[in-house]
Amino acid sequence: MQAKHPSTRSYKTISPLLGENVYIDSSSVIVGDIQIGEDSSIWPLVAARGDVNIIRIGKRTNVQDGTVLHVTRKTPNNPEGHPLIIGDDVTIGHKAMLHGCQLGNRILVGMGTIIMDGAKVEDDVIIGAGTLVPPNKVLQSGWLYFGNPMKKARELNDAEIQFLAKSAENYVLLKDEYLAES
Ligand SMILES: CC(C)(COP(=O)(O)OP(=O)(O)OC[C@H]1O[C@@H](n2cnc3c(N)ncnc32)[C@H](O)[C@@H]1OP(=O)(O)O)[C@@H](O)C(=O)NCCC(=O)NCCS
Repeated sequence: MQAKHPSTRSYKTISPLLGENVYIDSSSVIVGDIQIGEDSSIWPLVAARGDVNIIRIGKRTNVQDGTVLHVTRKTPNNPEGHPLIIGDDVTIGHKAMLHGCQLGNRILVGMGTIIMDGAKVEDDVIIGAGTLVPPNKVLQSGWLYFGNPMKKARELNDAEIQFLAKSAENYVLLKDEYLAES
């Protein structure tokens, strides 16, 4: 992994680490203990702050425009705090807010969704636009969730589950076009 990119900054001497062929828009801000896996992409105006805990982003995951990523510090009552862990092939729609939560693989986070501390999203889940995922909720694999308050809406069909990997692949191809121009 490489460390240097104009949008990355260190916090207490720890700098973000980027995998091969990661695309980061120059208007985003990526601070501190953050690792981003190969072929992932960070789009305009994303703010990601790995200061009081860590942020890990897997491979082929896209974080779309205006999204905020942050974490919660370790305390005596909560010794691990809440890191932010995001898996592979995840699509994070525009202006989402992911705070101290854990996401598995092949997930769509709809535009404007808020996911709070300690929530866990299993593999192969769609979260509709504008959803509020409260703290410590577990979202079960193969289901659609949406709403505020969040509801477990219905099981995903095969086409929707296949679309999750396709959505991530589309973003890999798009970021390759942007990388070719930079
Ligand atoms: C939830 C979603 C997947 C649609 O699921 P669906 O099962 O096809 O839902 P439908 O469009 O048939 O709507 C079913 C009902 O849910 C409601 N609904 C749809 N999306 C909703 C959402 N995000 N939040 C709350 N209600 C929603 C509809 O109004 C409808 O309600 P009604 O029966 O009272 O009329 C889609 O609306 C969505 O939010 N997609 C996320 C897209 C996105 O943000 N992508 C990231 C950027 S690329």
